[in-house]
Order: sequence, then C-alpha cells, then structure tokens
Amino acid sequence: MKSITVELADRSYPIVFCPGLVTGADGSEQALLASEMGDSVFIVSNETVAGLYLEPLKRLLGDRKSDVYIMPDGEMYKTLDQIQAIIGELLAAGHTRETTLIALGGGVVGDITGFAAAVYQRGVAVIQIPTTLLSQVDSSVGGKTAVNHPLGKNMIGAFHQPKMVVMDVETLKTLSAREFSAGLAEIVKHAALADRDYFQWLQANQDSIMARDSACLMTMIEWSCRIKAVIVASDEKEQGNRALLNLGHTFGHAIETLSGYGTVLHGEAVAMGLMMAADYSVRSRTLVESAPAQMAQLLTAFSLPTAVPKGLIRATFLQAMGRDKKATVEGLRLVILRDIGQAEVTSQIDEDALEETVAYFLDSA
Ligand SMILES: NC(=O)c1ccc[n+]([C@@H]2O[C@H](COP(=O)([O-])OP(=O)(O)OC[C@H]3O[C@@H](n4cnc5c(N)ncnc54)[C@H](O)[C@@H]3O)[C@@H](O)[C@H]2O)c1
Ligand SMILES: [Zn+2]
Repeated sequence: MKSITVELADRSYPIVFCPGLVTGADGSEQALLASEMGDSVFIVSNETVAGLYLEPLKRLLGDRKSDVYIMPDGEMYKTLDQIQAIIGELLAAGHTRETTLIALGGGVVGDITGFAAAVYQRGVAVIQIPTTLLSQVDSSVGGKTAVNHPLGKNMIGAFHQPKMVVMDVETLKTLSAREFSAGLAEIVKHAALADRDYFQWLQANQDSIMARDSACLMTMIEWSCRIKAVIVASDEKEQGNRALLNLGHTFGHAIETLSGYGTVLHGEAVAMGLMMAADYSVRSRTLVESAPAQMAQLLTAFSLPTAVPKGLIRATFLQAMGRDKKATVEGLRLVILRDIGQAEVTSQIDEDALEETVAYFLDSA
C-alpha cells in the first residue's frame, strides 16, 4: 500500500492509500489496515455517507468493540450540540481513553470527529477516512479541528493530529459533480502555490481527472497530500509558512460571507479567490500577466467559476476581507503569487492594486 508520512516528531502519522477500504473490497490489505485501527473504536459518520460506506467498514472491523454515531448531513450541524451528543454516546457506551474515534465522511464529519477526539477525556486517538475530494486533499491532513459558533465559522476548535489518515479514492465515484469540482479548487491552489510541475500535470490530465479515472485520482491526491504534508510539517500551528495554504482564501472568504453561506460552496469561492489573488499579484507586479489566464483555463476545465457572483458591493467586500480571521491585527495579510508554483505571504499591501482588483471583479460580475 502506498503511504506518505506527515513528519511531526512524536506526532508523525501516515496517510495511507487503500482503495476498496470502505467501497467493498475485503482483501488482505484492507483487513490488515483495519486490524491497526485499535481494539475499541467509535465511528462518526453522517446519514448520506453511512448509507454508502458504513457497512463495509463495520464488516472490516469485525467483532471488536465498535459503536457508531450518525449525524445529520450539513455544515449547519457542525456545532457544539453535536459534540455534546457524541460525548454522551461515548460515555454511555463506556469508551475509555484507549478508544479510537473514526471519522467516515467529508470535512464536516472530519472536523467534528477530530474536535470530539481532541476533547474527550482530554484527548483520544482519531483516524480520518475522508470521503470527499476536499477532505482527502485538505481537511483530513494537518490536525485542524473545529465546530462553528453562531457568530463565526470554525471559531471553536483545537489542533489535534490524527493517528492515521486512510484514503479510499473509490469513494469519490459517488460524489456529486459539484462537490467533486469544489475539491479540485484546493488542488489547483496547491499546484499554484507550490509546484509548477504539478500545475502542468493537472493541465495535461484534466480530462482523465474529470472522468474520475482511479489511477489519475490517486496520483493527484497523493501529490496534493505531499504538498500539504510538507507545509504542515514545517509549521504545524500556522505561525508562518502554513498561511501559504490560504492562497485565494482571503478573497474567497469575503465572497462566501457576502453571498450568504451555502449559496456558494467553499471550493467555488476558493476558485474565484484564486483568480482574484492572481489578478492582484499581476497588478502589484509580482506575477507575469499571462498567469491568470492559465489559471482560468484550468479552473474552467474543472467546471469551477472564475467570476464572482453578481451584486457584491465594493466597500463591504474590502471590509469583509479585513475581518477575515486570518488577517492579522496589524492589518491585512495576503498570499500573493510570484509565479505559478511559487507563493509568498505578505503584509505589505498595495492598496491601489487591491482596490483595482476588487473593482474589476465586482464590476464585471
Ligand atoms: N480542518 C481543516 O483543515 C479544514 C480544511 C478545509 C475545510 N474544512 C472544513 O471542511 C468542511 C467542508 O468539507 P466538505 O467539502 O468535505 O463538505 P461535507 O463534509 O459537507 O461534504 C459535502 C457533501 O458530500 C456528501 N458526501 C461525502 N462523501 C460522499 C461520497 N463519497 N459520496 C457522496 N456524497 C458524499 C456529504 O454528506 C455532504 O452532503 C467545512 O466545514 C470546512 O470548514 C476543514
Ligand atoms: Zn479551503
């Protein structure tokens, strides 16, 4: 089985590629991996994903102590109420500090299960089995866990690294086209910020990717996970380098906030944000003029939007960017592009260029 290690000293862990783990192949590799998941486990999933993949997982886990919590599907359930419910079930079923939580689902299930694991009896092990493209290349790796507060997304959380992440790329075959594309936005982001070769590989393989060719998906997810793993290993708690992963996100969060959560998927907002970040980088003279068009071509091939929704207002947009939680107290920090494959975090903002970018995108919407 292929695997990558996230190097974090005594908290290092593997990202294992195991096609068929929860999509029905009862092979020896799958059984071996399942045997390493712990003697006592507690699975968290949601109504949608459980219907598809819970039974194969339970079959693999065999007759060890295993309990299941199934939450409703949706970002609006990423709340402390769900944490309270999960902890209630863990206690009622007598789970000790030796128990391992298993997250089976997308980023919502992953974030909630990770946070429950971080706080249950001051911390128990968690295994991530991400089933969306976004969660396979982004949220399952890196140890950020959180739930939402009515006043802000991801405002209650902790860093808690998993003990293992297992990717079954076959789960992506049941994902909706829109959710699949949303995950591709984070992948374009990875390539744009870290690796020109990867960007070119994505360009060359865009048709097979859209056709969800298994081998192609494996290569792509592994490539993205390596990029994320290296960045996380260099800056676990986001005091420096890890902020590079926010490329396109300061613009993207403003779009998400102002268009009302739920209208635009996070990945779609990231795609728009990537275009805005590239445009800003050109206007502030760090990026060559031809780069945004290359980015737009790739995003379009991945069925992602490159223009912002109609009706956003300039003044509120700039304000929404400033209120982004990733902006520092001194002022705004932006991730800019120096080239395709090379990004940098800066707090030296070219105000004119920023206003031009915002005006250009909002006026042409
Ligand atoms: N912790 C982090 O570092 C981090 C990073 C990025 C995003 N996030 C969080 O991740 C969440 C978004 O994650 P997401 O995009 O995976 O959304 P999601 O978890 O809501 O999943 C999207 C939809 O796909 C369904 N689904 C999941 N797997 C499926 C499958 N294999 N087949 C069919 N349907 C499936 C889900 O039930 C849901 O309806 C947000 O809450 C965000 O804050 C966290
Ligand atoms: Zn993101």
